[in-house]
Amino acid sequence: MQARPRAAGAGFYLALIFQAKSYIMPFMANKKFHLIIFGCQMNYSDAERLSSVLKDLGYQETKSEDEADLICILACSVRQTAVDRIHGKIRNWQLAKTKRPLITILAGCVLPEDQKKLEHKFDIFIDIKNLDNLAKSIQKINPAEGPERSRGKEKLALPQFFDIAPSYYSNYRAYVPIMTGCNKFCTYCAVPHTRGREVSRPSQDIIKEVQELLKQNYKEIILLGQNVNSYGLDKENEIKFPELLEKIAKLDNNFWLKFLTSHPYDMSDDLITVMADNKNINNYLHLPVQSGSDSMLKRMNRHYSIKKYKNLIKKIKTKIPDIAISTDLIVGFSGETEQEFTDTIKLFDELKFNMAYVSQYSERSGTTAAKLYSDDIDKQTKKQRWQIINKLLTKYSLEFNKKLINTQQEVLIDVVKPDKAIGKLSNYVAVHVMDNKKLEVGKFYKIKITKALDWGLEGEINND
Ligand code: SAM
Ligand code: SF4
Ligand code: F3S
Repeated sequence: MQARPRAAGAGFYLALIFQAKSYIMPFMANKKFHLIIFGCQMNYSDAERLSSVLKDLGYQETKSEDEADLICILACSVRQTAVDRIHGKIRNWQLAKTKRPLITILAGCVLPEDQKKLEHKFDIFIDIKNLDNLAKSIQKINPAEGPERSRGKEKLALPQFFDIAPSYYSNYRAYVPIMTGCNKFCTYCAVPHTRGREVSRPSQDIIKEVQELLKQNYKEIILLGQNVNSYGLDKENEIKFPELLEKIAKLDNNFWLKFLTSHPYDMSDDLITVMADNKNINNYLHLPVQSGSDSMLKRMNRHYSIKKYKNLIKKIKTKIPDIAISTDLIVGFSGETEQEFTDTIKLFDELKFNMAYVSQYSERSGTTAAKLYSDDIDKQTKKQRWQIINKLLTKYSLEFNKKLINTQQEVLIDVVKPDKAIGKLSNYVAVHVMDNKKLEVGKFYKIKITKALDWGLEGEINND
């Protein structure tokens, strides 16, 4: 995940939010906060809302940890490596605290066992969906700075978390959460244990947020949920995902629309039809497979077979022939045999994914896998399997990219450097544009592709 430039203020209904702002702000004025975000786009999106709350409490954001008065980590529990990085940070802050007043906050996805180990090492631990007590907690730590002003008003009247207007990180690409949590309980996964069950956001609020973004000329909207295909199933009288997607696609013609993540079990024909019928829904799909072996998928509790997954891909490619498909894969999950891994290689050879996020299995406490199976594949084997798959991916990425040489492609520019500009196709393939003279970040350009690289393309402005 890349750090993205911060956009100008975006608060379209922020004014409604903090009635308590006027008495909170003065005692935190001129103070700075710094957010450290681990994990997936859900955490980035949450950070955009948390950032608005901290700004409304009078803090300004800083990119420098060293000049921050308040540092908040949004943790990710999906792999142990992300948790280990938090322990490293704590050591630095303990030293910093001997030199200056510093408030540290832990938020994000934290498993109960990690919470026990980490909580006491932070000044504040918050559930990000319940920020009501944040101001009060900050004051408790810094009582000299504000109890008089806030006496008698102990609680901020915050509305639902999703109603907080985000401070978007970009002024042309926005992540819009449509739901939180997950009901799938894949045996290896921490998410249902950290984010809880699925809760869908009201469709009218989602549509309103996208409308507002489009008014501000946003070029790319990415709808977020751990399993967007089950959007609306937790609510009576709510539209389902294909209908929501279609309504959003029809709001305007001049933007790219994507969604993350789809679970193969819930991916419906209706959704494929909506994708095929609406031009601004990108020809891109992230469809995690996790393993190429049926016995492994069963141990993972994924609820589909490889045959079903392949049929699904076939159906999608029949309706949307030039679609790019990416996936997630775990190597070295409990008891993964040579045969099971060979089945995965076979699947990758057959489906030639455009991209895959390959993880080496990391046991997570409290999950079914941690209770029932053992983490018995050694580190070396996990690493070797990871390398084998990544080598395959590079080969197929280059093959796909070569087919694009001499085609005209629409590119959304992300970075302009002195010698070149870098952007993306709607299917996330990176494009290096060697002539950057007329290019601006956040705008679409027609680019002629001139060269294929392992993981990207080179091109030039199309003057035809
Ligand atoms: N909801 C998505 C899905 O249906 O697959 C994925 C969400 S999960 C936060 C992102 C990815 O992390 C997963 O697809 C999986 O490949 C990887 N992952 C999850 N738990 C893991 C674990 N214990 N060890 C290694 N990788 C893991
Ligand atoms: Fe985790 Fe499975 Fe839910 Fe994805 S679908 S978040 S992998 S439990
Ligand atoms: Fe995402 Fe990590 Fe939470 S992958 S949902 S931030 S556990």
